[in-house]
Amino acid sequence: MSYQVDKNGFYGEFGGAFIPELLYPNIEELQENYLEIEKSPAFQEEFNQLLKDYVGRPTPLFLAKRLSAKYGGEIWLKREDLCHTGAHKINNTIGQILLAERLGKKRIIAETGAGQHGVATATVCALKGLQCIVYMGEKDIERQAPNVARMKMLGAEVRPATSGSKTLKDATNEAMRDWINNPEDTHYIIGSVVGPHPYPDMVARYQSVISKEIKEQLQGLPDYVIACVGGGSNAMGAFYHFLDDPSVQLIGVEAAGLGVHTDKTAATLTLGTPGVLHASRSIMMQDKDGQVVEPHSISAGLDYPGIGPAHAWLKVSERAQYLAVTDADALTAAVECSRLEGIIPALETAHAFAVLGRLGLKPTDRVVINLSGRGDKDMDTYMKELDLFQ
Ligand SMILES: Cc1ncc(COP(=O)(O)O)c(C=O)c1O
Repeated sequence: MSYQVDKNGFYGEFGGAFIPELLYPNIEELQENYLEIEKSPAFQEEFNQLLKDYVGRPTPLFLAKRLSAKYGGEIWLKREDLCHTGAHKINNTIGQILLAERLGKKRIIAETGAGQHGVATATVCALKGLQCIVYMGEKDIERQAPNVARMKMLGAEVRPATSGSKTLKDATNEAMRDWINNPEDTHYIIGSVVGPHPYPDMVARYQSVISKEIKEQLQGLPDYVIACVGGGSNAMGAFYHFLDDPSVQLIGVEAAGLGVHTDKTAATLTLGTPGVLHASRSIMMQDKDGQVVEPHSISAGLDYPGIGPAHAWLKVSERAQYLAVTDADALTAAVECSRLEGIIPALETAHAFAVLGRLGLKPTDRVVINLSGRGDKDMDTYMKELDLFQ
């Protein structure tokens, strides 16, 4: 069984590039060039140098002793929260800005939910002196205000998306529309393993440094790798080099919102069915007429009705398991991680911690949680939602 993309851009029955004709030249340009550029020695040299000196890689793998004592296994945290700008998103934007530069693009657009991808994009645009426009849902602009300020400080223009639930899906729609209108000079830096081929594979490759490092740092295989999933990029990065190690259990954690039996949820793989969203075939939340169901999660980065096609394939082929965690359980897990380990996680990341109690760990089990981002951006939400601040 292969878990890699095939030459037509599919993972099993999922993936592809279902794009409007106006985008053919852009997508074809990417499909024809992304692998060759990524493999070139000059790209590799600059990518690795920036990951080291600018992002601060390798990120540490930290043994969380008090969480381990509580849950019974050996729990290791992959510290993506220590990356420059505070989350894993920068690994991908470094890769894509180098690609954009080599394709001669001068204008960069991006979508963002939690704002971490927007900040990471604004950061690399500043680094390279390129124009940057970030689309963000109006609701997310409000709940992730510190990241909006950071983007502006870095010189980016933040454009609100005002349709639908005013969240990540709507921002992605706006960014796609912009790209269709500006096909020649613009590169669209998609922030997750979603969108038309080659994005899911390209973003997975740039994020795969996470599992490459885990493998080296752990010196041997873990029993579990756990990561939260919005579009699925930090999870794909953490799973990538373990996909062909069947003894490693891969667990993705999606947002149940108020619960999977309510209509306020973003548990795509638990509730969704096959369909096309944002130009690739995957699993998505839709009604019986194929209309997208508006998602809900307390965390802006997981508040998305779709998921990358590779995850749909990992689920259907039973290589990975996907669990859903409610807003309330994620908040509890965020406090627990803060108090047991002295690390305030992002709300997205907190979802991954919330499944520890469900695994029935043995003392010899080695668990890696991908700590995808830090919680600074979420302090407003924590202060509003947690009893300890009342
Ligand atoms: C810290 C953090 N973790 C996870 C995510 C979810 O994205 P993905 O599933 O692509 O990793 C986000 C998205 O903004 C994020 O900011």
